[in-house]
Amino acid sequence: MAEGFVSISHLLGGTLEGKTARLRGWIHRTRSSGKLCFVTVRDSTGIVQVTVAKDSVPPQDFEDAKKALIESSVQVEGVVARDPRAPGGFELRASGFRVLGPSENFPITEYQSEEHLLNYRHLWIRSQQLTQIMKVKATALSAAREWFDHNGFYEVTPPILTSNACEGGSTLFEVKYFGEKAFLSQSAQMYLEAIMYSLENVFALPPSFRAERSRTTRHLAEYWHLEGEEAFVGNEGNMRIQEELVSAMVTSCAKRNAAELKALGRDPAGLLGMVPPFKRLDYGDAVRKLNEKGIDFAWGGDLGTNEERVLVEGEEKPVFVVNYPKEVKAFYMRENPDDTRTYLCADLLAPEGYGEIIGGSEREIDVGKLIERLKAQNIPLEPYQWYLDLRRFGSVQHSGFGLGIERLLRWVCKQEHIRDTIPFPRTINRISP
Ligand code: 4AD
Ligand code: MG
Repeated sequence: MAEGFVSISHLLGGTLEGKTARLRGWIHRTRSSGKLCFVTVRDSTGIVQVTVAKDSVPPQDFEDAKKALIESSVQVEGVVARDPRAPGGFELRASGFRVLGPSENFPITEYQSEEHLLNYRHLWIRSQQLTQIMKVKATALSAAREWFDHNGFYEVTPPILTSNACEGGSTLFEVKYFGEKAFLSQSAQMYLEAIMYSLENVFALPPSFRAERSRTTRHLAEYWHLEGEEAFVGNEGNMRIQEELVSAMVTSCAKRNAAELKALGRDPAGLLGMVPPFKRLDYGDAVRKLNEKGIDFAWGGDLGTNEERVLVEGEEKPVFVVNYPKEVKAFYMRENPDDTRTYLCADLLAPEGYGEIIGGSEREIDVGKLIERLKAQNIPLEPYQWYLDLRRFGSVQHSGFGLGIERLLRWVCKQEHIRDTIPFPRTINRISP
């Protein structure tokens, strides 16, 4: 906080009652009647009511306060007074009111279409809803970094421009690269696997890109991907890491952002219960469970939104679905020695039907098997030689996972659409603003 200015949360804290204070912010709402203006002002910490009485400020200040439209930036000086009618219980009785940057007629009013709000995302980003979500997101990210820090992981910085697919060709964004073809990264996994050979436990938080052709409420073309890779860890150890990490992130949000979560319609007390262990549900048992519930689903299929929703019915906490059939997963996963039709892998499904938030697996270390699978899928080996090399020089058992930050936030913040968990969403029909 700059010299001489107080934050609104400080002002509402009560310790400044009767004192003179100065604050800066933006006009949230305003109305005036005769000799009195009621201006609510917001800053990054809260919203406070400012009363500007004609007799208490210089004449020009009163005129300015009366005229200033919402979203104008202002600087106010006055006395902090207790007032039970004011939101927050305190108000600032102005002795001076200055408009720093006047606002034109704000193009967003109370009832607007989703399309309008997306067109004006650069202004709608100031809304209470998006502000609350961004605060929760900041907590989730710092809690994740704290968790990794306390558990012996190094943060590393993988490339975004890449020459090969990690998750298959259908969702790749192609870019020109000095006359050659390159792709935006779908996942840092392969690079994390390479770095794991020296640092053992690594994580990264890069953006990932998916050219998703579908319009769903849980797919973005650009999202933030929290990925971990761990040496000497198998599929079960990988799940233990994930459940602890998710628990740390979610419970930190519940503790540090209770007010924001409540405003978003999420009960923070419920999130405090998101502690390990999370249930493990074998894919085969998942198929049986779906069939028992009358859903026509055959072994070998991939779980869609509806199946994922049904599988977590009645579950309070996230659920791991373990050991999917090979057909529906990527080539790099380790074959399950107990059922070679499947991989040693797990997807973590959020409760309440929010669906997959993590995809993870033990990695195949048999270079022959990797080559076989690439060939079977008609994928040229050349671009993958460096990846195959990782199995040729001191390979060890290892596992890793990728958590979609916006997927997690959509669940935690109880949002219908994933786009509201990212400031500027990129989807199939939108790249602006
Ligand atoms: O399941 P996915 O495709 O797995 C991988 O990319 C692995 N290589 C990760 C790894 O092991 N390092 O993606 C991982 C997670 C998903 O569980 C989901 O949360 C998120 O990334 N995700 C998306 N989030 C938003 N929009 C999309 N289009 C997403 N696609 C995946
Ligand atoms: Mg997945």
